[in-house]
Amino acid sequence: MLELHNVKFIYPTGDGIQHITFRINPGELVFLVGPSGAGKSTVLKSIFLQERPTEGHVIVGEYNSLFVSRQEIPYLRRKLGIVFQDFKLLNDRDVFRNISFVLEVIGTRSKVIKRRVLRALADVGLSHKSRKYPEELSGGEQQRVAIARAIVNEPYILLADEPTGNLDPDTAGEIMDVLMRINMRGTSLLMATHNFALAKAYNGRIIRIEHGQLV
Ligand SMILES: Nc1ncnc2c1ncn2[C@@H]1O[C@H](COP(=O)(O)OP(=O)(O)OP(=O)(O)O)[C@@H](O)[C@H]1O
Ligand SMILES: [Mg+2]
Repeated sequence: MLELHNVKFIYPTGDGIQHITFRINPGELVFLVGPSGAGKSTVLKSIFLQERPTEGHVIVGEYNSLFVSRQEIPYLRRKLGIVFQDFKLLNDRDVFRNISFVLEVIGTRSKVIKRRVLRALADVGLSHKSRKYPEELSGGEQQRVAIARAIVNEPYILLADEPTGNLDPDTAGEIMDVLMRINMRGTSLLMATHNFALAKAYNGRIIRIEHGQLV
């Protein structure tokens, strides 16, 4: 479902990742752990092809990065749900529409959109806030919206880049609970974090990265 084979990506500055090989099976929970600057975000970017590997390849479902054209990248990304540390919500629209636009752009029928958005909101425990705007929400609530947006398309795999990094410990724990619930229901989760203790507290596989390479 997700495979990286000998992936290399080097920024013009000379930093980056290389020899990255791993796979994630259906339903698996995997933590990508390493210190700041180790290359965790770069690995995630190479998976959704924000940075295309300069060597090696990535397989996401039926897509292989070697053969995906620029026009096909959005289709590959629809197989993935992505959550970032800083939420990345759109401030000009309410919670419902932050989640629904993912489905609108692919032409989903409005009845189906409504059903799926409401279900995603229920999954993250935020049904009562669907008409609020992002700035009216706490950080933890904003991250719940971002998670709902990431799962509304029923991705193969949820990628989360330091999803609790901006949150206090209690709120971070609640967000981890939400992510674990989604994983328990069968969605694979690949979560990048510098926090080894956090990763160890959950029953997942741990992949370690340092200086751009797996260790
Ligand atoms: N756009 C960029 N241009 C040049 N170098 C970059 C760029 N993005 C990241 N890097 C460098 O690549 C290396 C890996 O960065 P990356 O963001 O993947 O690390 P990280 O493990 O996610 O760190 P953090 O825990 O701080 O988020 C670092 O040395 C970083 O400075
Ligand atoms: Mg990072």
